[in-house]
Amino acid sequence: MTIPTKKLKSGFEMPVFGIGTWQMGGRFERNPENNDAADIAAIRVAIDWGVTHIDTAESYADGHAERLAGEAIKGQDRGNLFIVSKVSDEHLRYDDVIKAARASRERLGTAYLDLYLIHAPNPEIPIRETMRALDTLLDSGLIRHIGVSNFSKERIEEAQSYTKNKIVANQVHYNLIFREPERKGLIQYCQAHDIMFIAWRPVEKGALTKPGTPVLDEMCIKYGKTPAQIAINWLISQPGIVTLAKTTAIEHLKENLGAVGWTMNPADIERLRTEFPNQQDISDTVPLI
Ligand SMILES: NC(=O)c1ccc[n+]([C@@H]2O[C@H](COP(=O)([O-])OP(=O)(O)OC[C@H]3O[C@@H](n4cnc5c(N)ncnc54)[C@H](OP(=O)(O)O)[C@@H]3O)[C@@H](O)[C@H]2O)c1
Repeated sequence: MTIPTKKLKSGFEMPVFGIGTWQMGGRFERNPENNDAADIAAIRVAIDWGVTHIDTAESYADGHAERLAGEAIKGQDRGNLFIVSKVSDEHLRYDDVIKAARASRERLGTAYLDLYLIHAPNPEIPIRETMRALDTLLDSGLIRHIGVSNFSKERIEEAQSYTKNKIVANQVHYNLIFREPERKGLIQYCQAHDIMFIAWRPVEKGALTKPGTPVLDEMCIKYGKTPAQIAINWLISQPGIVTLAKTTAIEHLKENLGAVGWTMNPADIERLRTEFPNQQDISDTVPLI
């Protein structure tokens, strides 16, 4: 299948859905017991089925997730892929950013990254320095676009003030349960400022894949879809929002891809927005500071 893309006014374009790699190869440390072959196979199958957006980070499994992704993309037409990685918040000094990007490129075995994100803000390190490093990386061709992750409106504004290059994306925890960016006006801000909103954790690590929530169950019947498909489609049916889910299970991948290529009725998007129960205002993982 072909995964549709979303395009901003600036011309920046990316797929509406991608595969994540958090917990592939381990958590923050490499797990020697991890089934690396299964992770590589899942990314390869995803690519075979039309997924081009692969999201990783230097911190995932201490760089090993990038190695697995690199292994999976070997022999692929690089021009068809959209590879995203992230520099960790402890590496936001100028020299550290440059070093981190080079190391990610090595592990991924690619000449360039389509999008490079600051994984999270670090109030201890002047953002001006970080943005200068990202500009250098962009000028050198090592990265194609600059983005941020877990940034509030104020922090995006500050970061943007230090670069002439456009911050094209903000990757943030957002799904039917976690609504912090909605309540803080961050989604509206990104939409108004031509910044792609990349929602991470769309199925809340599996919590949104089960029946038993009446309004979600009703939508499943109406659209003939599963809870995971409704949860993912709810995100990508909204303007300026794309998402990515991690899966190593091929049947989950197939299910998640069934969330793509159709659009939920705007009234149903709003019903889910208001009626979905037990919503939480603050991310339990990375709150927006
Ligand atoms: N910028 C950040 O700070 C940040 C933070 C977190 C995540 N991310 C990125 O966003 C990606 C997605 O977020 P996430 O991995 O945290 O959460 P997620 O994609 O919502 O959930 C992944 C988990 O749910 C399971 N799963 C996926 N699809 C399923 C389905 N259809 N049915 C049942 N279970 C399913 C997966 O297990 P199986 O493998 O068994 O399918 C995995 O355990 C990450 O992988 C990472 O690349 C970014």
